[in-house]
Amino acid sequence: MTTSPDSGLLKPGQIPREAAKRHGVPRHVAIIMDGNGRWANARGLPRTEGHRQGLDALRGAIRHAGQRGIDFVTVYSFSSENWSRPPTEVSFLMGLLRRFVQRDLSELHQANIRVRVIGARAGLEPGICALLDEAEALTRANTGMTLVVAFNYGGRDEILRAARQLAEAAAAGQLDPASLSEQDISSRLDTSDIPDPDLIIRTSGEQRLSNFLLWQAAYAEFVFSPVMWPDFDAAAFDAALDAFSARERRFGAVSAGGG
Ligand code: FPP
Repeated sequence: MTTSPDSGLLKPGQIPREAAKRHGVPRHVAIIMDGNGRWANARGLPRTEGHRQGLDALRGAIRHAGQRGIDFVTVYSFSSENWSRPPTEVSFLMGLLRRFVQRDLSELHQANIRVRVIGARAGLEPGICALLDEAEALTRANTGMTLVVAFNYGGRDEILRAARQLAEAAAAGQLDPASLSEQDISSRLDTSDIPDPDLIIRTSGEQRLSNFLLWQAAYAEFVFSPVMWPDFDAAAFDAALDAFSARERRFGAVSAGGG
């Protein structure tokens, strides 16, 4: 049995990037990792244990995305609204990010993964900002998958920050409001160098966007998985990818058959 990309008989986990595009694999998958708290509650554990297991699930998802030939994975790891959680949970999540960067960065770098961080830096501890900067700087030249970590991220806040820049440029006479384009906005978002997501997965059965990638989600497909994030394994990820590949994306046009 051959496993060449053109044979149609690809072994799972061995889909090269170019072939992946021909087999309906999304180029960019964004994930709302939901259900950590409920996963922990169901087991009589503290919510923080759900987040700790959630970090393991994230490691598995990154590995699996690489094996499936996905180019960009964005994960919602702390929203601008998450500050309203109990202080112990907030500080646990901050610690988890710190541990993730300290323990996993060299492995991500060795795997040729580029790390990008989106979200507001204002309000974050300087030590965390320095770690995020280090992760981006170390992996800047990597050419494999891009892991986008949305941390202290909110879609409205991101659009607001872009609008403020545009208003300042207009006030300084550098921009004519009449000629404002979508590109003027896109290029001022945190994701200016990242393509829009093709697929957004939300785990835990909830069906909301929760302020995630509001502008970028315009033409994304949504898959809502019933699985709680700590249990989101390769099979659950593949089920979401299968659902995506069965969709027909029209981007506002009509289907190829004219229907
Ligand atoms: C939502 O579940 C999850 C979060 C707010 C945090 C996500 C964090 C991780 C998966 C760990 C990896 C993180 C880093 C820092 C890279 P929830 O707590 O809202 O669950 P619930 O809806 O069941 O209460």
